[in-house]
Amino acid sequence: MLPLKDKDKPLVQKLLAAGCCARCVLRFCCVGLHAAYRQPCQDSLKELQAFVSDAENGKSEQAAAPEPAEGNSTSHDAAGPNSTEENSTSQDAAGAEASEDPPSKRMKLEQSVSEAQADGASRVCVCCLGILQQLSEHTQAVKIAEAVKAENYEFDSLVLSVSLPAQLCVREHSCWLHVKKEVREKCMTLDKDDVIQVKEAFKWIMQSLIAKELRGVSVVTKSVFEVGVEFTHPETDADCHFLATACPDCFKPTKNKLSVFTRMAVVKALEKIPADKFLKHYPCPPPRPAGSCSFQDVQCLHVAVFVAGRYNKFCRSLPQTPWVIDGERRMESSVEELIAAPILSAFRADGFNFSSSGREDVDVRTLGNGRPFAMELLNPHRSRLSRAEMKQLQEAINKSSDKIRVRDLQIVTREATGRMKEGEEEKTKSYTALVWTQKPVQKDDIAFLDEIKELSIDQKTPLRVLHRRALAVRQRLVHSMSTRLLDPHHFYLSLKTQAGTYIKEFVHGDFGRTKPNLCELLKTDTDILELDVESVDVDWPPAIPE
Ligand SMILES: *[C@@H]1O[C@H](CO)[C@@H](O)[C@H](O)[C@H]1NC(C)=O
Ligand SMILES: *[C@@H]1O[C@H](CO)[C@@H](O)[C@H](O)[C@H]1NC(C)=O
Ligand SMILES: *[C@@H]1O[C@H](CO)[C@@H](O)[C@H](O)[C@H]1NC(C)=O
Ligand SMILES: *[C@@H]1O[C@H](CO)[C@@H](O)[C@H](O)[C@H]1NC(C)=O
Ligand SMILES: [Zn+2]
Repeated sequence: MLPLKDKDKPLVQKLLAAGCCARCVLRFCCVGLHAAYRQPCQDSLKELQAFVSDAENGKSEQAAAPEPAEGNSTSHDAAGPNSTEENSTSQDAAGAEASEDPPSKRMKLEQSVSEAQADGASRVCVCCLGILQQLSEHTQAVKIAEAVKAENYEFDSLVLSVSLPAQLCVREHSCWLHVKKEVREKCMTLDKDDVIQVKEAFKWIMQSLIAKELRGVSVVTKSVFEVGVEFTHPETDADCHFLATACPDCFKPTKNKLSVFTRMAVVKALEKIPADKFLKHYPCPPPRPAGSCSFQDVQCLHVAVFVAGRYNKFCRSLPQTPWVIDGERRMESSVEELIAAPILSAFRADGFNFSSSGREDVDVRTLGNGRPFAMELLNPHRSRLSRAEMKQLQEAINKSSDKIRVRDLQIVTREATGRMKEGEEEKTKSYTALVWTQKPVQKDDIAFLDEIKELSIDQKTPLRVLHRRALAVRQRLVHSMSTRLLDPHHFYLSLKTQAGTYIKEFVHGDFGRTKPNLCELLKTDTDILELDVESVDVDWPPAIPE
């Protein structure tokens, strides 16, 4: 039985007459009982019709009765044992009472009920445009569930999101204005915001149906997996247009929106427009639509999964990210693409976003324990991999190319990826440079470098990065150095430096833009032939024991 009160009667009557469906009537009566929406629309309609017919009945009885019982039936709010309305909300009551009524009255009642039923059942609701009628039925739940299944996601709960045509707000507003007069007369404290939203009612009906179709899956209010259902109603798309002249400020073109008539903008305009102005432009109650909304699309979206690890790069002709100059690709691959390909296919993700703790130049290798990186996987269809599966994935990446390797591959949280960038500037990095000297040198000529500690250098933004970095002077520390002579013109220089130190510039001097530099220290021209990153001392992500 529907939880309606006597005071709802005029509202019910008016909305049914206006062409609202039973569920929209319940919404306007602020019925919050989910079960009331889940029962078949037909049944609700019958109940509502019985509910109001009985009121009509009661009134005529009163008028005809020789001794009208004033206190009993004129006050709709009275709910004492004598209140006739008390018993008449039940579905059978109308029939039972009708049999005691004079035949003429019974006929009138039956006729109006069946007329209204035929009307209400077959016609598209003027308020929800069918969303809460045929579009909230079991067959729709099956369709949605099938669409979800076809996408082959791995999930154990989902949240349903509903996108409705913006013009539905205009109809809702019109219906509200339609009953507002009634509401005022009855001194009800109902406010427009109290009306149950179409979206909510739709979810109350559909969530359990969809859950049943997707066995074992709970449909909840918060989940990492979202199933979006979109409805459109092209027939009435123009319904919103009058609002643009009434409230030009509300409709500003925004990029990546097809129409200025977004739901938000329409709601805002409806809040601003005075009732009389609205009523001049739009009928109240709303006009009958020819057809119902159509079910446009089901869109599934899983929140991003983050994968982190460390990579080695063993190749001197591999950029970290795709290298594109003037729209043309310069190198066939990149570190991020080599790592991403197997990960994307394991998680069946749509795309990725790569970040790392610093980066190396295309000709620089990254050795040692590797460089920490994190990868945001967009819309992953799989989001959980076991430890063993992660190890397999790591192996697949290792085997896919001899240019790179990864270790410590693991799933992390979005928050944790922040730790990779934390205090990045203060960290220490170790390098080995192959240095060429113009003057021939001996072991003893370069040994003094091993003794230098905490050398402070000033680096003007290097010429080679000036096109993308602002000109500035940065002070950096070279914590320590050590040398290993190779031949009179070549030696290996190992350096421990503050992160962000430009090593190449420290070695060749960058035309005096880095001071002091190795040329100055050795009093000869020097150049850097090769550079390797030996370690990136960032203790994230945590090491994974083999
Ligand atoms: C119900 O109404 C009748 C007459 O209309 C009255 O005699 C009776 O006391 C009322 N009962 C209650 C409980 O109000
Ligand atoms: C309401 O119905 C109950 C049983 O269904 C009955 O006992 C009672 O007399 C009825 N009250 C009125 C006011 O009709
Ligand atoms: C990639 O990450 C950056 C920075 O975290 C973010 O601004 C951007 O929106 C992300 N891209 C995608 C497609 O998520
Ligand atoms: C992948 O390569 C790295 C670096 O050589 C190594 O530490 C790791 O154990 C390898 N992992 C697998 C599963 O092969
Ligand atoms: Zn409706």
